Amino acid sequence: MTLRLSSNNKFTINNQTLLLGDSLNILPTLKKQFDACITDPPYNISGYDHKKEIGWLKSNKFWTEQKKFYKIDESWDKFSNGDYERFTEEWLKMVCCLVKKNGNIIIFGTYHNIYKIGYLLEKLDKKIINSIVWYKRNAFPNITQRMLCESTEHIIWAVNNSQKNASNWIFNYNFLKSINHGKQMRNVWDIPSTPQNEKEFGKHPSQKPVKVIEKLIIGFTNKGDNILDPFMGSGTIPLVCMLHDRESLCIENNEDYYNLAVKRLKGSNKNKNVDAFELLSC
Ligand SMILES: C[S@@+](CC[C@H](N)C(=O)[O-])C[C@H]1O[C@@H](n2cnc3c(N)ncnc32)[C@H](O)[C@@H]1O
Repeated sequence: MTLRLSSNNKFTINNQTLLLGDSLNILPTLKKQFDACITDPPYNISGYDHKKEIGWLKSNKFWTEQKKFYKIDESWDKFSNGDYERFTEEWLKMVCCLVKKNGNIIIFGTYHNIYKIGYLLEKLDKKIINSIVWYKRNAFPNITQRMLCESTEHIIWAVNNSQKNASNWIFNYNFLKSINHGKQMRNVWDIPSTPQNEKEFGKHPSQKPVKVIEKLIIGFTNKGDNILDPFMGSGTIPLVCMLHDRESLCIENNEDYYNLAVKRLKGSNKNKNVDAFELLSC
């Protein structure tokens, strides 16, 4: 399949290429190999199998109108369980063809989808190195009071090779230790939810904090590496790649989010967005 992209659906800045379109169509047309894939796919939180919970929320106007609580209820995040598994397997297989052997594959999720992603990575015989728990101590309280307050997201770190043969993956142990007061980095990261000042160009319902993405980019890739993100959202991955001298190719199929990412990258520069990790960058 040949895919033609007009200048309206491609934006390039400082070695970051942003494409507007469906990853399932674009990934098979890509010719180059990537050093790593770091991505945050749809979680299926709004999926049809969670409909009951959304209905409960909509009938509770106190939370939606007065407290301005927003539960992800986006069309891009709605699948039946079977469709979600097929969709995930399809893009994962494509990513595995595009990332070089032993390259890192790092995927975000919540309890809604992370077990499926882990299962599919094992089915594809990929070595899982660690799972990271991102603890959001300021996560929104659980308003239903029928379950624990969900305050974590999960990140699976896998390598693009079999369980048996995986070797020589990138892990910048010393950098991670240096930002952890000289102690080995553990797999629980206590980082607050995305702060408002990272939303100056507009909002995305699942925008990740720069701090979380920075740890991944600097800890698990090297300067000059080329990173693939098939689910770009508001552009946090290319933004951090730009700040830390990595290249990226990122895809987003929602025009509003694509435009938001373009604005964020245009509006950012090193001087404005310098942060604590910059000086330690390896
Ligand atoms: C969880 S969000 C990513 C958020 C991102 N990490 C950030 O910091 O803003 C997933 C994104 O994938 C996009 N998406 C969903 N299906 C897609 C597809 N088939 N191709 C490209 N993008 C897709 C959605 O529009 C959404 O913005």
